[in-house]
Amino acid sequence: MGKFGLAVNPATHPETLLESALPGIKLLARGKVRDIYDLGDGRLLILATDRLSAFDVVMAQGIPDKGRVLTQLSCFWFGQFSDVFRSHFITNNTREFPSELHPYTEVLSGRSMLVHRACPFPVECVVRGYLAGSGWKDYRETGEICGIRLPSGLEQSARLDEPIFTPATKAATGHDENISFEEMAARVGPGEAETLRSLSLRLYSKARDFALGRGVIIADTKFEWGMWNGSIILIDEVLTPDSSRFWPEKGYEPGKPQPSFDKQFVRDYLESVRWNKKPPPPPLPREIVTKTSEKYRDALRRLTGQGLY
Ligand SMILES: Nc1ncnc2c1ncn2[C@@H]1O[C@H](COP(=O)(O)OP(=O)(O)OP(=O)(O)O)[C@@H](O)[C@H]1O
Ligand SMILES: [Mg+2]
Repeated sequence: MGKFGLAVNPATHPETLLESALPGIKLLARGKVRDIYDLGDGRLLILATDRLSAFDVVMAQGIPDKGRVLTQLSCFWFGQFSDVFRSHFITNNTREFPSELHPYTEVLSGRSMLVHRACPFPVECVVRGYLAGSGWKDYRETGEICGIRLPSGLEQSARLDEPIFTPATKAATGHDENISFEEMAARVGPGEAETLRSLSLRLYSKARDFALGRGVIIADTKFEWGMWNGSIILIDEVLTPDSSRFWPEKGYEPGKPQPSFDKQFVRDYLESVRWNKKPPPPPLPREIVTKTSEKYRDALRRLTGQGLY
């Protein structure tokens, strides 16, 4: 660990942050990817590290620039849709951060944001426009996803006529599990479930259209929503390679898996070495780390039209 928790990983990149340390600032939680600090007055600092989890296990190596990509892409979308969807976003400009954070500007810059602390709904609001991942698996086995019956004979990666809302539990440990809309309603309340479904579908459709204009297919994505001051707001990260499946539109062809802008390289590598998907994870070769880093940066560049800042 170097200054302010910057772990130097010379094999890949001078600055790969695996774990942040901000002495004097209250650490609320470390998720698989993000470190969350409680600033008091209902505000949180969300810092995206370069940690990467695959099959729900955090890898020993970080992916250079990953945390920056996640933060900058989320901020881009919060800004893009701010007049339609209220979110937890306050600022990602470190000069506007509270003064107790100023000593940490170097580590915070580009990878952290100040947000309103909300009360998260305990569901992952997944929207699918294409058949992939666990949706494809469930469809193949049962013809349904989360209780939604789909036409028969659809191919892998097929585009759905209408995007579908397929909620999942937010498991504290282990894998998230797809649930039916009725089950979601039992957990969050029927009115809230309707609202979250309609907000999620609307947001997905807007993002999908925007991304298609930039040559990117958003096959599926996951949103989190929370209650804040009596309103439902968008929280967490949005429309990043960690929360979504992005495919290049060029070359899209149903009937097989599509190349994607995320950790697919890592997953493929882990499958190839027949890792049992239990900790400890095997070390990742340098080229896998480098390629994954490129994929994340590529997603940011294509969607926002800009590189990292
Ligand atoms: N505005 C917010 N208010 C309260 N909690 C939030 C807010 N935004 C995000 N969160 C929570 O912060 C955490 C983000 O960290 P991260 O994504 O790394 O965790 P995770 O590994 O996905 O999941 P886990 O929640 O199981 O730790 C999530 O638990 C998310 O629900
Ligand atoms: Mg998360």
